[in-house]
Amino acid sequence: MESKKSLYERLGGMDTVNSAVDIFYAKVMADETINHFFEKKNMKKQIAKQKAFLSYAFGCPMNYTGKTLRKAHKKMELNESHFEAVAGHLIYSLEELNVPGDLIDEVVTITLSVKDEVLNR
Ligand code: HEM
Repeated sequence: MESKKSLYERLGGMDTVNSAVDIFYAKVMADETINHFFEKKNMKKQIAKQKAFLSYAFGCPMNYTGKTLRKAHKKMELNESHFEAVAGHLIYSLEELNVPGDLIDEVVTITLSVKDEVLNR
């Protein structure tokens, strides 16, 4: 029987998640096309949001107890370019951490699979 490690584990577990949160957060907040969505939010909530985001992207939503993605993003009127900006920052963050390309591809697949939900389509 195949006992394949979870994507989360293969990505490097908590160390990678923590480093990715720091890098991803800095990129999102430096991006003027999307940082206004995150203004007026306290830092603690912000980090929690990035961790929740990455948990989703890393394929471990079972620890997730927050709102549905549709509900969480409903009032933001997000469009394709907002989504691409966030997804791009995630990919570049993982590249900076030297995560192998095939694992990044898996992350991209998961991210794209929730796109309609996030964009409320
Ligand atoms: C793959 C795409 C995305 C995923 C998986 C994702 C994931 C999440 C999660 C898990 C939360 C927390 C929900 C909760 O409060 O319980 C959240 C909140 C949030 N997301 Fe996303 N997100 C995505 C895309 C985006 C995009 C494109 C933007 C804006 C450019 C965005 C902006 C926000 C903001 C501002 C919040 C905080 C909402 C609040 O505190 O009221 N997200 N997201």
